Amino acid sequence: MFGKRSLSEEPANRSPAPLPASQIERHRSPPPPSASESDPSLRSDVPASEPKPRAEESKTAASSSRKSDKYYEVKNQVFAALIETIDVAQLSRMDTDHARDAIGEIVNDIITAKKILMSISEQNELLQDICNDVLGYGPLEPLLARDDIADIMVNGADTVYIEVGGKVQKTDIHFRDNSQLLHICQRIVSQVGRRVDESSPICDARLADGSRVNVIAPPLAIDGPSLTIRKFKKDKLTLDQLVKFGSITPEGSEILQIIGRVRCNVLISGGTGSGKTTLLNCLTRYIELGERVVTCEDAAELQLQQPHVVRLETRPPNIEGEGQVTMRDLVKNCLRMRPERIIVGEVRGPEAFDLLQAMNTGHDGSMGTLHANSPREALSRLESMITMGGYTLPSKTIREMIVSSVDVIVQATRLRDGSRRITHITEVLGLEGDVVTTQDLLVYEMLGEDAKGNIVGRHRTTGIGRPRFWDRARYYGEEKRLAAALDAAEKSNA
Ligand SMILES: Nc1ncnc2c1ncn2[C@@H]1O[C@H](COP(=O)(O)OP(=O)(O)OP(=O)(O)O)[C@@H](O)[C@H]1O
Ligand SMILES: [Mg+2]
Repeated sequence: MFGKRSLSEEPANRSPAPLPASQIERHRSPPPPSASESDPSLRSDVPASEPKPRAEESKTAASSSRKSDKYYEVKNQVFAALIETIDVAQLSRMDTDHARDAIGEIVNDIITAKKILMSISEQNELLQDICNDVLGYGPLEPLLARDDIADIMVNGADTVYIEVGGKVQKTDIHFRDNSQLLHICQRIVSQVGRRVDESSPICDARLADGSRVNVIAPPLAIDGPSLTIRKFKKDKLTLDQLVKFGSITPEGSEILQIIGRVRCNVLISGGTGSGKTTLLNCLTRYIELGERVVTCEDAAELQLQQPHVVRLETRPPNIEGEGQVTMRDLVKNCLRMRPERIIVGEVRGPEAFDLLQAMNTGHDGSMGTLHANSPREALSRLESMITMGGYTLPSKTIREMIVSSVDVIVQATRLRDGSRRITHITEVLGLEGDVVTTQDLLVYEMLGEDAKGNIVGRHRTTGIGRPRFWDRARYYGEEKRLAAALDAAEKSNA
């Protein structure tokens, strides 16, 4: 049948698990001073000439925007004196707050001793800046501290973009130069025991707060190091919030909840940044508390609420090219861990085969995401991933395997106005000849655009009264709820 567990109450919406208090674990060893920073010729007569931030800039962002050359001169003097004074080893043993206090005291002493003229607010700003450089991620700090940012994209020292509310915008953040940027990239990747430089210019890493990081350095990145950060959201979005945003209707959300609960095998398909991982995380909230779930991810982003979860993460090869653990290794290993459900963060290669095998062999309710622009494309991507994995199976056999494994494909899309929508809930039905047949339960129709350029559209059902997973819903005692949700969705079509 569909599962071994007894029926029990639908788990109520739980609030997300609390995160560790410090969102970002800072790297405490100060960097070696650069040539200019270690210049010992401290002049006592340099006035601080910090330009005042423009009115529309936020206070924190302003502290990282372009400063005058004089400011950097003063900062370099103070920095050089600081590096000579502090005990790096001792600093690295302190927690961040104490380290900041210690640096603050020394910086004040240096400013007094060198008779540098500064107002209190300028002094505070300088201290903040130096602390960010010594303990944190320099000009990125104010961006990392904001929770409304989805992505940070740094294209060399002078160009930093962020995505806020679905829209990509340029910021006023600048790095002093590309070597400061590379230095910060190095600090980030060193936390996961990796290195980024000319000889190994590509690196994936993760900030201590869970944010996913990619660095690609010169000579591969032509205009300076390129850093991309997918910010970790402390409070993950829930299906209720997606309903509020208009990404899905309440009825659609109800259908998704049932799909998650009744252990359908689900693939979430979508383009880059379309909300696949978010949606996967939402669906996992409807997994019952007692189920043993194993998750496999490249960078752990999922936040499952259940107690019985084992989280696995892949490992890239080290500098000698050894020690790699691939997604496929993890998925295969998972099968020996007695999982009830397997969740694969992103299926992008031969592990597709192992996930389908798992779905097929009693691990109902397994889920994964993949990059594709429509449910149909997701099916062909799946097939090509299996073929590219070196399996010499006839394509009909692969398709048979797909239809007997995957129950539902949910399509996430980021529309051109920046909004994210669930555009399809599609069932995989079977094979007709060589063709995989599917049926849409819910689709999003674009109707046009309003005066502000926002997309206007609506979700509508396709009139399917009895989806293929009906029997499964009945087995889990959810058939009435499913019928009601489909009914309500049908009515809202009108
Ligand atoms: N429906 C939504 N409405 C608004 N914001 C959303 C929605 N879904 C996701 N987001 C936000 O969009 C960003 C990207 O989401 P997510 O990481 O889920 O995308 P993804 O498709 O998994 O991306 P990638 O392809 O890079 O793995 C996140 O900051 C997330 O909070
Ligand atoms: Mg993702």
